[in-house]
Amino acid sequence: MSKLNGKITVITGGNSGIGFASAKKLKSQGATVIITGRDSDRVQSAAQELGVKGIVADVSRLSAIDDLVAQVKSDFGKVDVLFVNAGIFQPAPIGQINEEIFDNQMDINFKGAVFTTEKFLSILNDGASIINLSSINAYTGMPNTAIYAASKAALNSYTRTAATELAPRKIRINSVNPGPVSTPIFKKTGMAEEQLNGLAETMQNRIPLKRYGQPEDIANLVSFLASDDASFITGSEYNIDGGANINPLVG
Ligand SMILES: NC(=O)c1ccc[n+]([C@@H]2O[C@H](COP(=O)([O-])OP(=O)(O)OC[C@H]3O[C@@H](n4cnc5c(N)ncnc54)[C@H](OP(=O)(O)O)[C@@H]3O)[C@@H](O)[C@H]2O)c1
Repeated sequence: MSKLNGKITVITGGNSGIGFASAKKLKSQGATVIITGRDSDRVQSAAQELGVKGIVADVSRLSAIDDLVAQVKSDFGKVDVLFVNAGIFQPAPIGQINEEIFDNQMDINFKGAVFTTEKFLSILNDGASIINLSSINAYTGMPNTAIYAASKAALNSYTRTAATELAPRKIRINSVNPGPVSTPIFKKTGMAEEQLNGLAETMQNRIPLKRYGQPEDIANLVSFLASDDASFITGSEYNIDGGANINPLVG
């Protein structure tokens, strides 16, 4: 029997990258999957390709999350797996961080993620699994990532407290902290191709396994945390980074 048979699963930001790969993986394991995203065309074409339901919802707008919850409730009833994945990356050096860069990342990566859980709670089944897509940046001092890193560190902190408070309902909540993963997120920064290639080479050389993660690597961990195989795991964080967080001084 497939591990996720019958599990109603919502994936925010499921039209691209890690969310898209996770939708494919979880569906292949029997889950009924609903993906979201900001842009109607992108959401609908991804949903069609995956053979899943697509709903447009910008997580930085609380009223849009309310509408999403109402639609999922009316179409599917209760939810078993909530993958809080939607996020953006806007690098900027200290001294050049403006209000827009701060608000965009905090509104989507932290506030949007928190209110996704807050608002879905009423339609989560007891025993549900919530997976928050964070980053190893939550623990690094990588240049230009101060606000991105802070948004993910804040999310991990929320995850820990939520794990304690949701335990009486047997709802598990965990964080996944990837290192660099090959997805469109880097191009969306607007950085020039040359700059992106330079960054990729530098980062890849610092990763002990000498490669970027693939979205499917993260999807495999997400599907495990979503499943009953992870039924004793809550309030945990998983680095999935080819060893990048070991940060070797030599080698
Ligand atoms: N790739 C990496 O190296 C890496 C490493 C660590 C953590 N992460 C985290 O992984 C998650 C997924 O990123 P990815 O790498 O797969 O990037 P991606 O391919 O750009 O996917 C991000 C997804 O989030 C959606 N999204 C962005 N803002 C949204 C909003 N306000 N409301 C709803 N959906 C929104 C995007 O939809 P649109 O089409 O509307 O933009 C897209 O579907 C993010 O939380 C990111 O911070 C990525």
